[in-house]
Amino acid sequence: MYNIIKFDTLPSTNLYLKQNYQNYNEFTIITTDNQTNGKGRMTRIWNSSKDDLTFSILLIPTFDSSKLPLISLIIGAALCNVMNRYISCSIKWPNDIIINDKKVAGILVEGVFSDKTEAVIVGIGINVNQVFFSDDLIIKATSLRLETNNIIDKDKLLKEVVEEFITLYNKFLQNDNTYLDIVKNNNYLKNKEV
Ligand code: BTN
Repeated sequence: MYNIIKFDTLPSTNLYLKQNYQNYNEFTIITTDNQTNGKGRMTRIWNSSKDDLTFSILLIPTFDSSKLPLISLIIGAALCNVMNRYISCSIKWPNDIIINDKKVAGILVEGVFSDKTEAVIVGIGINVNQVFFSDDLIIKATSLRLETNNIIDKDKLLKEVVEEFITLYNKFLQNDNTYLDIVKNNNYLKNKEV
């Protein structure tokens, strides 16, 4: 149903899939413990080490391209549903997962287009077992380990997120929008004044 391929090092799991998607089936997962030129949103850099979970999921979409922005919500819902098994989290639209007001995961969804959408690459970075953050990050970033006081099994977490995403995505393809309820119920801004 899905296939996880791990590289020792890659510049970017998203870039790798954008350049090589034709060689892989839908629901191929590319992951690495050493991302050296990773992309965040708005030209930010997102590099990673063995303490993070860094991966991209390949989709070969059959839905209308107008629905592409919904993929960020579906993966956000999957991430939050899984992390809620560890500790309470929320979704800050469109791409951040928050625990105790700090960012624990980010999402970058990218498409490959010709006259249609050839591929969608769902990139995810999760701060899993880091205990140190640089001075500029410490006030706004955290890790699952810091928040739970537990060392997290990254391989287990990866499988949990991928399986939850595929479940919610397949429902979305059948017009079952369960992911929207999850997003609403875990909305970071729900209890904040805006
Ligand atoms: C953000 O919050 O700015 C989004 C961060 C997304 C980072 C992930 S890590 C895996 C994938 N590969 C990349 O180069 N970026 C995404």
